[in-house]
Amino acid sequence: MNDKETKKWAQEMFEKLDSKLTVEALRLGHKIPYIPDEKTGLYEEDMAAADPAWWTNGFWAGIMWQMYHATEKKLYKETAEFSETCLDKALDIFTGLHHDVGFMWLHTAVADYRITHNERSKARGLHAAQLLAGRYNPRGQFIRSWNRDRSGWVIVDSMLNIPLLYWAKETLGDPRFGYVAEDHADKVMNHIVRADGSVNHIGVFDPTNGELLETPGGQGYASGSSWSRGQSWAIYGFVLSYVHTGKQKYLDTAKKVAHYFISEVSQTGWIPAVDFRAPKEPVMIDTSAGVCAACGFLEIAKHVEEYEKNLYMDAAMNILQAIEKNHAIWDEKKDGIIDDATGSYHYEKWTEVPIIYTDYYFVEAILRILDKDFLIW
Ligand code: GLY
Repeated sequence: MNDKETKKWAQEMFEKLDSKLTVEALRLGHKIPYIPDEKTGLYEEDMAAADPAWWTNGFWAGIMWQMYHATEKKLYKETAEFSETCLDKALDIFTGLHHDVGFMWLHTAVADYRITHNERSKARGLHAAQLLAGRYNPRGQFIRSWNRDRSGWVIVDSMLNIPLLYWAKETLGDPRFGYVAEDHADKVMNHIVRADGSVNHIGVFDPTNGELLETPGGQGYASGSSWSRGQSWAIYGFVLSYVHTGKQKYLDTAKKVAHYFISEVSQTGWIPAVDFRAPKEPVMIDTSAGVCAACGFLEIAKHVEEYEKNLYMDAAMNILQAIEKNHAIWDEKKDGIIDDATGSYHYEKWTEVPIIYTDYYFVEAILRILDKDFLIW
């Protein structure tokens, strides 16, 4: 596909997205969506009420801010602002919050601040950044991911949370936030990314000295396997660390994981299995891993030599088109845009369903191709 054809396809997608997201935003009103109801195909549950601290509660606002940036439609802006104020409850409650404050506030308050420069949003974003920095373990040199007794647990998903710290560093002119983010990225790069470019989901470290103790399988098949969304968190997360620090080691790491991902996904029609190292049966896919990796590939393509660009651009386009062709829900009477995302290999409830973060990465990828996006990370 040449550049003109790629843009034509993306423009067609953008028009469909604008139409469907307008309908969804009007139908949803004041709710934060996650997964449509199995029976009605609509977003029935309101996550703002069900669980204000749930890690995905920012993605709907992220979609809305990206679409507002591209269209200037008031509906998108007002819908995003509503999610942002709902999340104040999570800041107040505090105890349910984990390292996912990055996902939650980059897409709400920080996106708002980047676009409108409003001071209340800046304060919310900085509040969330302080919470994330407060999870740093100076002996272990990592940010703890989860709560309870898991003081030494680091999950690769964290690579998409630390851009909140890069933003705080820039916004406050305070290098501490950068030191924390880079120490953490180094820990993940040196202990969670494997030599062959595959990635563990979890590293459990001794919290008193940072020594790696074990690598459970987490949301993937088993220890030693290769959870595809974890691979895409690493691809996109490391290239973002490169964007914010200029350090070549992070771009090299993103490329190494990208090459592994491409070698796997190209064997299954460009639709990722939930885990690249799970048994062949049952066949289980995760479209969210594909669209997130595609965003990472589109970002990597901006920072490599001309002769390398096509590898990443072609992989991104192959994935996006295969997913759209086989898994998009364009019926405006249903909620959710991309079907067949899977939350976790061993948790049947969220297997091959539309999940809000998949829609976010699909929207971002389409807007990226059209140069209508803004960097939310
Ligand atoms: N951050 C949790 C997940 O990717 O499902």
